[in-house]
Amino acid sequence: MNNENIKILAIESSCDETSAAVVENGRTVLSNVVVSQIDEHKLYGGVVPEIASRRHVEAITAVVDKALSDANLSLSELSAIGVTYAPGLIGALLVGTNFAKGLSYASGLPLIPVHHLRSHIASNYITNPDLKPPFLCLVVSGGHSHIVMVEDYTKMKIIGKTRDDAAGEAFDKVARVIGMPYPGGVNLDKKAESGCDTAYTLPRPKIADSPYDFSFSGLKTAALNLIHNSEQRGESINIENLCASYRRAVVGCLTDNFIKAAKDLNCRKLVIAGGVSANTLLRRELERICTEQGYEFYKPELKYCGDNGAMVAAQAFYELKSGHIAELSLNAAATKSIESDF
Ligand code: KG4
Ligand code: ZN
Repeated sequence: MNNENIKILAIESSCDETSAAVVENGRTVLSNVVVSQIDEHKLYGGVVPEIASRRHVEAITAVVDKALSDANLSLSELSAIGVTYAPGLIGALLVGTNFAKGLSYASGLPLIPVHHLRSHIASNYITNPDLKPPFLCLVVSGGHSHIVMVEDYTKMKIIGKTRDDAAGEAFDKVARVIGMPYPGGVNLDKKAESGCDTAYTLPRPKIADSPYDFSFSGLKTAALNLIHNSEQRGESINIENLCASYRRAVVGCLTDNFIKAAKDLNCRKLVIAGGVSANTLLRRELERICTEQGYEFYKPELKYCGDNGAMVAAQAFYELKSGHIAELSLNAAATKSIESDF
């Protein structure tokens, strides 16, 4: 296959963003259209799956059209159609998957199934053109928290993962209780910047027999108890300080396990990905640790941290090169391991 001009159109609809993008050779973004539904889900304090599916149906045709016109390309000039088929909200995934199947059938272009977390990792190929596997990646989103050994572009091994809540979920739940709109992670991050991170003492749960796994539910409950106990005693909580202390605890759990895994596996190249990789402290801390300890450190540009079609098209390029082409019988799946091809 000639690598010089492989242009892939890819679609992302796994949660609350309808997105389509065209990326060349897995690295150069020619267009990236993202339509967010956040304002509507905010009314309910979280994503309502049925509403998400309906909004994807309404938006997808215009989003794909705009991705093609922004790239100044027609379907006949593309090499393949990529799509996020798993994991995520099943109704939402089905919209993108079925639309991509229709495009593939109509155009005769190959259909490339892309795992959502693999695509988050691939956001780094866009931002860091020289980045190549192998590397160790901390993938942290609203639904997942994994430490993954990326042995090759399409060969992944899970080294550690959360036993309960994902890091993004842990941020969002505490943010919601202190009255921040959905998704709270980014707002909590902003408030934390002006707080004192030693003001409140919070646990940093460890799992005895699995040093690379995470557990955030105990930490989250400790923060919620702290808030409720203060309310019952009529004491006011300093929101900035609580956000800073809580963010410090969550980020500490992530960086401790990640760096331990890197040391134990003797991996010198570290990468972060997923919505939570936008977190200011996580980026700052890993930058510091990696500089001090001599690791190479890569992170996606902020605009590619959240869900977007460009990262899907980037990963689709490598899936295509590995021969991962789906039949039109491809089905969406709410859960799927990052290790399995499709
Ligand atoms: O990857 P993503 O956009 O969607 C999923 O695949 O889940 O991740 C969304 C998650 C949400 O939980 C959101 O609150 C969190 O990423 N997030 C952040 C920040 N920006 C987004 N969490 C902490 N700090 C941030 N700056
Ligand atoms: Zn995501």
